[in-house]
Amino acid sequence: MTQLSFEVTRRADATSPERIAEVLENPGFGKTFTDHMVVATWTADGGWGDAQVKPYGPFQLDPAAAVLHYAQEIFEGMKAYRHADGSIWTFRPEANAARFARSARRLALPVLPEADFIESLRQIVSVDQAWVPAGDAGEKSLYLRPFMFASEAFLGVRPAQQVTYSVIASPAGAYFSGGLKPVTLWISTDYARAGEGGTGAAKCGGNYASSLAGQLEGIEHGCDQAVFLDSSTHTYIEELGGMNLFIVTKDGRIVTPELTGSILEGVTRSSILEIAKELDLEPEERRIPIQEWKDGAANGDIVEIFACGTAAVVTPVGELRWAGGSVDHRREGHEDRYAEAIRSKLLDIQYGRAEDSHGWLTRLV
Ligand code: COI
Repeated sequence: MTQLSFEVTRRADATSPERIAEVLENPGFGKTFTDHMVVATWTADGGWGDAQVKPYGPFQLDPAAAVLHYAQEIFEGMKAYRHADGSIWTFRPEANAARFARSARRLALPVLPEADFIESLRQIVSVDQAWVPAGDAGEKSLYLRPFMFASEAFLGVRPAQQVTYSVIASPAGAYFSGGLKPVTLWISTDYARAGEGGTGAAKCGGNYASSLAGQLEGIEHGCDQAVFLDSSTHTYIEELGGMNLFIVTKDGRIVTPELTGSILEGVTRSSILEIAKELDLEPEERRIPIQEWKDGAANGDIVEIFACGTAAVVTPVGELRWAGGSVDHRREGHEDRYAEAIRSKLLDIQYGRAEDSHGWLTRLV
């Protein structure tokens, strides 16, 4: 049962079908936004209310809005997929709603009930359904970005008494331009992304801000992304900041860092742990010393490494670099066959090309 009822105001000067077609031809990632947005407000006195679907546009934000000072903010990332019959679906929205609720609790924000979260997605996708790319268009989708922030104008440090929830939508192609080419990773030893008892398991903007210096350092060393280690011992692999990591071993195990509280519990990550069994891989969640990666890549125990997330789905990892060294697990004739098989299995389910035997899809339109 939803609590919120959404008032819909359509944009009078809606984007023309020709312009939408032009955008959907080559959407990139996160650059173009649809005609509408969802907005709802929470107040400490009144709870959730004033839910609207309205024309996309800037927020009126007081310069004292707490989010701008204390970063009380959370978000989610999801996609809407068009199937061959024109229907539009999303993937495991209950998992995103649950994580959004966990993130809200960690950041002392109000919880938006799961039914309202899912209804808000249905609302924006139904109003902006012309922006969902055709199902036959490779891996194009409509990326959905629900987020919540402290909009109260108050500089005292305490949980805000007025909070804004919003959903925006953006047509998306591949997250990394240049196709499915392996990313080179930099081991960030000077910077950690999150610490014990911190906000690492929450999807909050601050975690992404704190990953950027490591990311920049990686770029300076010719890498695409940084891999972060645990902040207490600088020994164990955590994640990339925006993606979880998997290692496939020669003896058929698929290993990912266990959820220690400082790693984001990716929806793609948990789906891969299920799908891996269908490929006769034995899933393993445990702490992975970075030395195990270095040794395994050098001696051939590791046959594949890949990163995963909603945005990029599955991306093979190539070389690993650090201050003073590098290692590459790829040998002559290397193929990222598990990364590719897992990626195809996920996309086939998401686009309705394979049976949804896990019950992961929810119809939006
Ligand atoms: C995702 O893949 O879902 C991410 O978290 C990356 C996103 C922040 C662009």
